[in-house]
Amino acid sequence: MDNGSQQIELSPIKQIELLASKIPGVVSLAQGIPADDTPSIIKDEVISALQLGKAARYSLTYGLPQLREEISQHLQSIGMEYDWEREIIVTAGSIEGITASLLALVSPGDEVIITSPSYASYQQAIKVARAIPVEVDLDDKWQFDLDAFKKKISKRTKAVIIANPNNPTGTIFAKQELIEIAKLAKSNNFFIILDEVYRDLIYEDSLFFSLAELPEFRDVIVRVYSFSKAYAMTGWRIGYLHSDKRNVDEIIKTHDALVTCAPVISQYAALAALLMPEEQKDQIRQAYKNRRDVIVSRLDKMSDIFSYQKPTAAYFVFPKIKLLDWQDSWRLSLALLEQAKVAVVPGVSFGKRGEGHIRVCFGRSVHDINIAFDRMEEFFDKIKT
Ligand SMILES: Cc1ncc(COP(=O)(O)O)c(C=O)c1O
Repeated sequence: MDNGSQQIELSPIKQIELLASKIPGVVSLAQGIPADDTPSIIKDEVISALQLGKAARYSLTYGLPQLREEISQHLQSIGMEYDWEREIIVTAGSIEGITASLLALVSPGDEVIITSPSYASYQQAIKVARAIPVEVDLDDKWQFDLDAFKKKISKRTKAVIIANPNNPTGTIFAKQELIEIAKLAKSNNFFIILDEVYRDLIYEDSLFFSLAELPEFRDVIVRVYSFSKAYAMTGWRIGYLHSDKRNVDEIIKTHDALVTCAPVISQYAALAALLMPEEQKDQIRQAYKNRRDVIVSRLDKMSDIFSYQKPTAAYFVFPKIKLLDWQDSWRLSLALLEQAKVAVVPGVSFGKRGEGHIRVCFGRSVHDINIAFDRMEEFFDKIKT
């Protein structure tokens, strides 16, 4: 679709998955989809809601009151104070929350800063709002370079989107830089869309800090969360956002225009997810941490091919390609797909700074991760000879 000035395209992650779906026997470490099924504790609640006839009708546009109350209590437990009635919206996945926020808070021609690399769909969501994505390069450790960031602020800057933990790097941003950016947002009058969809998949808790904990920034921050990742619920399309009432009063209108309300059956699933026992959440996190350790040990054995930052969160690693002839990440990803039957995402999909890298997802089973790495080792052995 051409929106006048900028082409809106299918995200490259989905392009790779489309290509992969046509090749029999491919092992995909491309799209960020958890390998596991939604936990049965959630499915059982949903079956009961269905049988009781609770899912047939729209909910309030904001979402089921019971769910929003539960979200508000959960937020309180992690140091965030938001009124369930007027400051929380249940959304159809976090990407709908992000798009509704942009449509509400940003005008055509405004600039929205995104980190390079960052989640590929931000570019498309910004273009849907007829705004202009402006990339700011992260440094070698995938952290903010504040001087580089300041240079990207202009009179037309209306928002920055920060994924913390970040996709595709699996890393966490440092507290001090986040606070500096929030101060810049206040003084320069722009919003921060704080995407914390990987908040429950953090392997080094001490590193994590959320700007939404600080009340002085609540008027510039819209925080989004998703049930897709930690609860293996990508297919349910359910998440939420929260912000100061003044912003939510605007976002509710675009959310209504887009979806009327989040799918009600999925809202019951979200309610069950929030009520899941802590031990079960810990087990899920531990399972991802184990997969992280497997992928890291496989990468260590390929140190002549890749270097990487060890992921401390999410389920991605973003290795840098050391081979000079294979710096073109699309060329390498297509060769891996066609010759090794392994799907990964070209790093350049996440911004120019991502060129020379590939994104590998460890949301899949250990079995799949090992097969994919066996095949990649074979591929690189062949091209080296
Ligand atoms: C950083 C980030 N934000 C948002 C999303 C969208 O997730 P959903 O719309 O399923 O909540 C993703 C999905 O991969 C993501 O990685």
